[in-house]
Amino acid sequence: MCGIVGYTGPHQAAPILLEGLKKLEYRGYDSAGVAVNESGGIHMEKSAGMIRNLCKKTADGAVFHGCAGIGHTRWATHGAPTDENAHPHVSNDGRFAVIHNGIIENYLPLREELQARGFVFKSETDTEVIVNLLELYYDGDFKQAVLKTISRLEGSYAIGAICADQPDRVFAARQFSPLILGLGIGENFLASDVTALVAYTKNVIYLDDGELAELSPEHVTVYDCTGHPIQKKISRVTWDVEAAAKGGFEHFMLKEIIEQPRALKATIDPRIKNGRVVLDDFHLTDEDLKGLQKIYITACGSAFYAGQVGKYVLEQLTRVPVETDIASELRYRNPIIDEHTLMIVISQSGETADTIAALKEAKQRGARTLAICNVVGSTIARLADTVLYTWAGPEIAVATTKGYTTQVAILDLLAVYLARRLGRIDEAEEARLVGEIQKIPQQIQRAIDLNPGLEDIARAYHDNSDMFFIGRNLDYAVCLESSLKLKEISYIHSEACAAGELKHGPIALIEPGRLVIAIACQERLFEKTCSNIKEVKARGAEVLGVAMEGNAAILAEADKAIYVPRCDPLFSPVSAIVPMQLFAYYVAKENGCDIDKPKNLAKSVTVE
Ligand code: AGP
Repeated sequence: MCGIVGYTGPHQAAPILLEGLKKLEYRGYDSAGVAVNESGGIHMEKSAGMIRNLCKKTADGAVFHGCAGIGHTRWATHGAPTDENAHPHVSNDGRFAVIHNGIIENYLPLREELQARGFVFKSETDTEVIVNLLELYYDGDFKQAVLKTISRLEGSYAIGAICADQPDRVFAARQFSPLILGLGIGENFLASDVTALVAYTKNVIYLDDGELAELSPEHVTVYDCTGHPIQKKISRVTWDVEAAAKGGFEHFMLKEIIEQPRALKATIDPRIKNGRVVLDDFHLTDEDLKGLQKIYITACGSAFYAGQVGKYVLEQLTRVPVETDIASELRYRNPIIDEHTLMIVISQSGETADTIAALKEAKQRGARTLAICNVVGSTIARLADTVLYTWAGPEIAVATTKGYTTQVAILDLLAVYLARRLGRIDEAEEARLVGEIQKIPQQIQRAIDLNPGLEDIARAYHDNSDMFFIGRNLDYAVCLESSLKLKEISYIHSEACAAGELKHGPIALIEPGRLVIAIACQERLFEKTCSNIKEVKARGAEVLGVAMEGNAAILAEADKAIYVPRCDPLFSPVSAIVPMQLFAYYVAKENGCDIDKPKNLAKSVTVE
């Protein structure tokens, strides 16, 4: 979604702002702009479409001379992606420029109030009220104007603002939308995402809700919502610039698929000691666990599908009932959650608005909360009682791959850990399960190596207009993620269907030539899935079977086969998804799609 950058220091600001915006491209956007303080006024350029349009308009920022400014990539919510609606927005008197992520829910009454006072609006955005409120409340004190302005806003915002009267100042404010300050030497930065900062500094301050910050080249001061200065912790970012670069791969998505063995090793290994799962960060006491009546998992998109895998594994090993719910649904349905519930929220970014709201709802109802998260210091990581980080490194492609598999691995580890603490498994069984989980990184590598023909298979089926994924039990959970992966990057319609459900409706859509991908890695259910394959074959479907290595029987049923390394079926989803990620990737590539930045999608969905 929208991206924010800000800079104040000794250098020309615009080239730095444009570089920062390029680092945020992966979040998804449809217009971009920068504004810089110079010659006692504000110099601004913005442009619909890609950042390269803005770079062209501004000679890569060279046309700006000022040393403090703000930049923005916009993902349209209020109004079409046009030059006028792009950020920054400038106040009527031209003194202020503002960039904004989030949604101002009371912007209509504010707009009417400002119009009644004679303010003229040039865009359809909610953001323009912010910049005109700054003008309204300004009496020579920039900070007071910011404080008064944000006290009028309802909804969510991360704001960056500059004022022509204070050429080296950048103000920032946050409410329910991420904002990070980067601390340099003689220069300071502002961004909605650390990836825009790591090239310049690793020292950062995470702003909290209700806080604002004043940046000058030499100082950063954070204030609470009443304007009193507060002390903030300086955190150190562990990601480096290379980790967020393509490293010779054609797309970030391919790089991130290929680096999964390493990401899984980084996630699993530090949590295993002497054949046991050790979760140092897990804070539930034995007493808490004794009272545990239900586990709840909530998340959005792929993170939710990781949770679907987690449900099977947690129930199987802990025998505690596990309920899963999409975060945007949970928050509006009066869920049965209390102090006997362990609420697990899963989020790669840690900034998904619906997941944050569901987490807050669970906390309010007294649940113990545990977050599975990839971004250190993100809102979800900071809100939950306990965080288990997936050490996947920065994930840039909009379609998650290593984010998903590391989430599943954490759920596997958690299931074994809880099962042992609840006394459901003995030490020997724990050691066996741990041994299986430790094999996951090499199994993922094998899942890649076993299927060199995937690109050809994708080429054979890339022009199918609809595809179906069928499977049972954990294979069905993998189907859900496989189908989402295919549709989001290749724009091919696809459906995931529990194989046994086919004949209850979806089979009506099967016709000659339709591709059905049958995932059959749960071998105790292999025969059952084979009968479903027969049903679709009888109606003319082409079937691509996904089975455990060495299972020749799949070829008696399917037209083509993909193999997954043999492993404990409880943990097969982590490697079974990998060929499906590659299949989606190659289909999208064959169809000429913008794989890393699929249309209409954003990496981090920070609005409801
Ligand atoms: C995954 O490929 C999607 N881009 C999307 O479904 C994503 O998983 C979802 O928006 C949740 O994001 P999060 O993990 O950052 O909360």
